Amino acid sequence: MKIGIVGATGAVGQEMISILEERKFPVTDWVPFGSARSEGKSLSLLGLERKVRVLSAESLTGCEVIFFDAGDHISAEWVPVALKSGALVVDSSATYRLDPSVVLAVPEVNGKEILEKFKTGSRLFAGPNCTTVPLTMVLRALENLSPLKRAVISTYQSVSGAGALAIDELIEGTSAKIAGKPFVYEQFAHPIAFNCIPHIGSFGDDGYTSEERKVLLETRKILGRPELKMAVTAIRVPTVRCHGESVTLEFLNEISVNDAKSALNAFPGIQLLDSPEEKKYPLNDPHGTGKDPVFVGRVRKDPSVDHGIQLWLISDNLRKGAALNAIQIAETLLPLIRSSSL
Ligand SMILES: NC(=O)c1ccc[n+]([C@@H]2O[C@H](COP(=O)([O-])OP(=O)(O)OC[C@H]3O[C@@H](n4cnc5c(N)ncnc54)[C@H](OP(=O)(O)O)[C@@H]3O)[C@@H](O)[C@H]2O)c1
Repeated sequence: MKIGIVGATGAVGQEMISILEERKFPVTDWVPFGSARSEGKSLSLLGLERKVRVLSAESLTGCEVIFFDAGDHISAEWVPVALKSGALVVDSSATYRLDPSVVLAVPEVNGKEILEKFKTGSRLFAGPNCTTVPLTMVLRALENLSPLKRAVISTYQSVSGAGALAIDELIEGTSAKIAGKPFVYEQFAHPIAFNCIPHIGSFGDDGYTSEERKVLLETRKILGRPELKMAVTAIRVPTVRCHGESVTLEFLNEISVNDAKSALNAFPGIQLLDSPEEKKYPLNDPHGTGKDPVFVGRVRKDPSVDHGIQLWLISDNLRKGAALNAIQIAETLLPLIRSSSL
């Protein structure tokens, strides 16, 4: 199968290459796409060395599956061209996530919807925001025990959520700060070294940021709960990789901590790590970084409401939050792609 990766040189694109290799995705040929600054650079996937190309109708033609990992504007302009060429498109940008005709997909949560939509002719599937993916898995696992009434979420998001340049900025800015040297920060609203910044995306009139609104609206869409009461605070923290989330939930009926833990641990893709007396709870490193599962711990009663549960999660934003989830969407459809005339 010939595939394309748009944004192959970026933080998500690079992770995608290594996950496709790990999972032995059936690639027979591929095209890495990037901006003009990377054109001609060599990249290797499964031993197939290819040069980065810029996007054009001609260069997109012939790919059966195209992963878009390059940003909203690129997806808005080029996804329609890719679809026209007959490819299956998995888009990690925010462009189509809330489009009612597009499935916003987390295979463990709404895998059936992916299959049904493909059978009706849809060839575009969207991957959610990197904080939404693990959150919806946790909520769906617990919703199986009792209907959810309200969710209050605070995110602790690593800099890689903002792309490859943001990783460099954290590392170089931190070194400069320690050395007492000046450093010009460009990636965030404030210097990220030694700071937590309660500002991701742009502010709306209601005081919510675009990132907070994404988590709220995307979660409601994926769970099929458009009225779900949610409050979200998104915070950028000076870590390289993995997003943490403090999750406070109120249910209609009582859920015991033990039942919650069992349901979470039994859910595909979630791993419980909850032994506080042994100082075991999910951490960016060694647990989340480079790993597939969503790690959940600190599961406890919320004493402030009748049927409340609180927990902490860690998930690798570049893997389950983006590249892995996109590949799993394509894998869900592989048997159908092979039997259809794309
Ligand atoms: N980072 C995350 O945790 C995360 C999670 C979920 C979703 N996403 C989404 O994934 C996408 C990529 O994010 P990222 O963090 O990987 O960003 P990134 O590290 O900044 O990478 C951006 C990529 O886009 C490419 N690009 C830029 N302009 C292009 C053009 N005109 N034509 C083709 N390619 C172009 C870049 O190529 P050059 O290197 O050649 O400039 C680079 O490969 C975004 O849509 C983001 O919203 C990211």
